[in-house]
Amino acid sequence: MDSFFEGKHAVVTGGASGIGLAAAEALAEAGARVTVADRDDDGARRVAERIGGEAWVVDFSDTEALERELAERPSDVDILVNNAGVQRMNPVHEYKAEDWRLLHRIMLEAPFLLSKWVLPGMYERGFGRLIHMSSVHGLQASPYKSAYVAAKHGLEGLSKTIALEAGEHGVTSNCIGPAFVETPLVRGQVRDQARLNSMREEDVVSQIMLAEASIKRLVQPEEVASLVMWLAGKDAGMVTGSSFPMDGGWGAR
Ligand SMILES: NC(=O)c1ccc[n+]([C@@H]2O[C@H](COP(=O)([O-])OP(=O)(O)OC[C@H]3O[C@@H](n4cnc5c(N)ncnc54)[C@H](O)[C@@H]3O)[C@@H](O)[C@H]2O)c1
Repeated sequence: MDSFFEGKHAVVTGGASGIGLAAAEALAEAGARVTVADRDDDGARRVAERIGGEAWVVDFSDTEALERELAERPSDVDILVNNAGVQRMNPVHEYKAEDWRLLHRIMLEAPFLLSKWVLPGMYERGFGRLIHMSSVHGLQASPYKSAYVAAKHGLEGLSKTIALEAGEHGVTSNCIGPAFVETPLVRGQVRDQARLNSMREEDVVSQIMLAEASIKRLVQPEEVASLVMWLAGKDAGMVTGSSFPMDGGWGAR
């Protein structure tokens, strides 16, 4: 328990798996009241039950329904972790427009709607923490990931704009930019990377995912959650509009 977090309400999107799950667990452990927001009905309920939080079953790809729901939903949120995301890979000239729109709805439009939903209450109370799960791809590009790279660059811009508007209200907004994290999202990418790069699946981690990093291992979800906790915590009050890579040295190139 940490008295700073005790009683604070945290919403973690994509909290049923991977990085979101680790962040939800860490926040609950510190004493926050956590809402696990995820389209995975069973997963969200299972996690919420285990950590003593609440499940919010919601599909962030349906942003019109989300907008309607948020108009009715209480917005007493102190910490928002915009984390839900998916990946679809293909070269631009073969990239399906519907996949492009899907990634932008989940990873850019929903974070905007959620931020817009929580900010007025945070401004009233004079406190708030917005933490956006960007990626190394929020600052850099990789082939075949146009929609993901563009959405994450957009999220970085949204975060910086909120930071400028929210400073006087005691609200911070920051991005975290991990390299490849050992989660179901990355495991699901191995086949696509092998297909697009004409290589064996067993070579994808070493030759693609770890190629740019100095430290040759995947990031662990708990390491990202630890940075979420620091950014949400009491010592990060002067930290806003920033991006925090956790990329094993990738960005040093
Ligand atoms: N894994 C990585 O290597 C990595 C690296 C950098 C950034 N990220 C980012 O971290 C975030 C979490 O990724 P992860 O690796 O933990 O993935 P994950 O697949 O383990 O978890 C993602 C969660 O988001 C939920 N989700 C997906 N689409 C949703 C939707 N439409 N509505 C509601 N919930 C939805 C899923 O059900 C799942 O629980 C993503 O934004 C991702 O882009 C991941």
